[in-house]
Amino acid sequence: MKILVLGGTQFIGPCLVEHLVARGHEVAVFHRGQTQAPLPPAVRHLLGDRRRLAEHAAGLRRFAPDVVVDMIALTEEDARSLLATFRGSAGRLVVLSSGDVYRAYGLFAGLEQGPVEPVPLTEDAPLRQTLFIARSQAKSPDDPMYHYEKIRVEQVVLSDPSLPGTALRLPMVYGPGDYQHRLYPYLARMDAGRPVIPLDEGLARWRCLRGYVEDVAAAIALAATSAKTTGRVYNVAEEIAYTEAEWVARIGAAAGWGGRVVAVPKGRLPVPFNTDQDLTMDSSRIRAELGYREVVPPAEALQKAVAWERANPSAPPLDYAAEDDLLAELGL
Ligand SMILES: NC(=O)c1ccc[n+]([C@@H]2O[C@H](COP(=O)([O-])OP(=O)(O)OC[C@H]3O[C@@H](n4cnc5c(N)ncnc54)[C@H](OP(=O)(O)O)[C@@H]3O)[C@@H](O)[C@H]2O)c1
Repeated sequence: MKILVLGGTQFIGPCLVEHLVARGHEVAVFHRGQTQAPLPPAVRHLLGDRRRLAEHAAGLRRFAPDVVVDMIALTEEDARSLLATFRGSAGRLVVLSSGDVYRAYGLFAGLEQGPVEPVPLTEDAPLRQTLFIARSQAKSPDDPMYHYEKIRVEQVVLSDPSLPGTALRLPMVYGPGDYQHRLYPYLARMDAGRPVIPLDEGLARWRCLRGYVEDVAAAIALAATSAKTTGRVYNVAEEIAYTEAEWVARIGAAAGWGGRVVAVPKGRLPVPFNTDQDLTMDSSRIRAELGYREVVPPAEALQKAVAWERANPSAPPLDYAAEDDLLAELGL
C-alpha cells in the first residue's frame, strides 16, 4: 500500500514508518524538515507546514496515498484541512487521538467535577464536556495548543462517508525518543543513588495505562493497513494497568536500582491531579477486531526506554532538598 504519514520523524512516527517499510509498504512522510530521524532510505520526504496543508495539496495528492496517517492533527481546523486535502485522492484516514478525550481525564486533571468514572474506559465511555484543555499552556491564540482538542479532531475525521476515517486513542507513550522524558524524574533519582523515592499515597495507588512506542506504532500500522477499521475508534494501551508505585518499581528493576518506593501521607508532596480517578483504558476492541498484540516483551521495552533516557537525559537537574527534609521528618 502507499501510505502517507503526516509527521513521522520524532517519536512514534519513526517506529511506525520502519514497521510499515519492513512490511513492504511504500511510505512518504510530510514534515517541515526541522526534525530528522534515520528513516529507511526508501521513504520519501515531502516538506511543508501541516498548519498550511492546502498550500501543499497538489504535491501530497500526487503521491496518491491509499491511506493517510495524521500524527499531528491537533485541532478541528487540522482535521478539516485533512479532509479537504485528501477527499477524492486518498482511500482512508487514520488520526492519532488521545485518552484525554474521556471525561475521566477531565476529572483527573481537575477540569470537570463529579463522581469518578468507572474504569477501565471503553471506547463508549463518556467524553469530556470541557473543551480546549491545553489553552492555558498556549503562548497565544496563534499557537495550535490554544485550539488543541482531539474530541473535535475525531468528530470531523469520522464525519465524511466519502473519506472514511479511524481514530486511535493513545495512552501515555514511553520509550526511545520520548521528548516529554516521562521516565526522567524517577530514573534521575535512581541514577543519583537515592535509596528511597517518596510518592504521595494517592499517586502511589493511582493506575494509568501506558504504551511502549514500538507497540503503539504496531497498533497504528494495523489500523492503517486494515480496511475493517473504517469509522471505528480504538483504544490503544497495554493490558496491565500498574499503579504508579508499581510503575516506579518496574523502572527501578530495569535500571538495576536497589532502592524502595515509599508512599507518604497526602498533602506532603505536591500532586496537581485528582488521583482518585484512575485512567485505565480497555483495549480489547483493537485486540479482538484487528488482532493487535504487543510486539516487544514488557521487560525489554522498559530496558530500552531506560537506556535511551540515560543517553538523552532531560536538562533540568533535580533539587532534592525539600524531599530530603520530608524523608528525614518521616524517618525514612
Ligand atoms: N506521546 C504521547 O504520550 C501521546 C499520547 C497521546 C497522544 N499522542 C499523540 O501522538 C501524536 C504525536 O506523536 P509523535 O510526536 O510521536 O509524532 P511524530 O510523527 O514522531 O513527530 C511529530 C512530527 O510532526 C512534524 N511536525 C510538527 N509540526 C509540524 C508542522 N507544523 N507541519 C509539518 N510537520 C510538523 C515533525 O517534523 P518537523 O519538526 O520536521 O516538522 C515530526 O515529524 C500527537 O497527535 C499526539 O497528540 C501522543
